[in-house]
This record gives sequence, C-alpha cells and structure tokens, in this order.
Amino acid sequence: MSDMIRVCPASDIALGSAVRVVIDDVPIALVRDSAGDVYAIGDTCTHGDISLSEGFVEDDTLECWAHGSKFSLKTGQALTLPAFEPVPVFTIELKDGDVYLDPTPRFDYADSLTNKEEA
Ligand code: FES
Repeated sequence: MSDMIRVCPASDIALGSAVRVVIDDVPIALVRDSAGDVYAIGDTCTHGDISLSEGFVEDDTLECWAHGSKFSLKTGQALTLPAFEPVPVFTIELKDGDVYLDPTPRFDYADSLTNKEEA
C-alpha cells in the first residue's frame, strides 16, 4: 500500500452520500453507497463542470444533479445520457477506520473496487 495516501476517516462519509476531496489538484468524490461500501471516482461530470459529489447516491451509482447522468461507482462509466464519457475510478482501501487512496486514475473498468468497512 506504498502508493496509498490517507484521505480521511471513513466515518466522514455518511451512508448514501458523497464527499469531495482534492488530491494533487484532482477533485475526487468519495462515496458510500446504501450498502455501506465506499468508492472513489472522479468528481467532475464529463458532461459539464459540475461536482458529482453534490449529486445523488442511488444504489451503486452517483447521479449528476445538473442533467441527471448516472455514473457507475464501480467502473466510472456513464450509464445514462447526456454524459457518455466515463469518469476515472480510484483504488481505495479502508484500514484502521481511515480511507486510503491511490491517486493514479484508472479507466480499466475493474470490478473489484468496492471496499467494505473492516469488522
Ligand atoms: S453537467 Fe452533469 S449531466 Fe450535465
């Protein structure tokens, strides 16, 4: 976990909500879905200069409040128009109650980015 940066306490991200952080000048949305899993995706909507963390968490998607595009929290893909380009996803780990993030953006649609709270 050498490339991982400690971002914030996991408890800062409430169930079904998103928190905006900026790491290396890159805005990132940290999102906890209704199941409690935490994800990190690019915070800027690919349809316009809108912060996705101001939008709505629904299941495993984050919806842009401006025009309603939904982005997959798992892959970053735009699931509904008008946005059609994906946002990056970021690998995170939850450790000792904190969120750690690898700031390297990924567009590989990996399906293993979900992180459950440690027991
Ligand atoms: S700015 Fe996000 S859908 Fe239009």
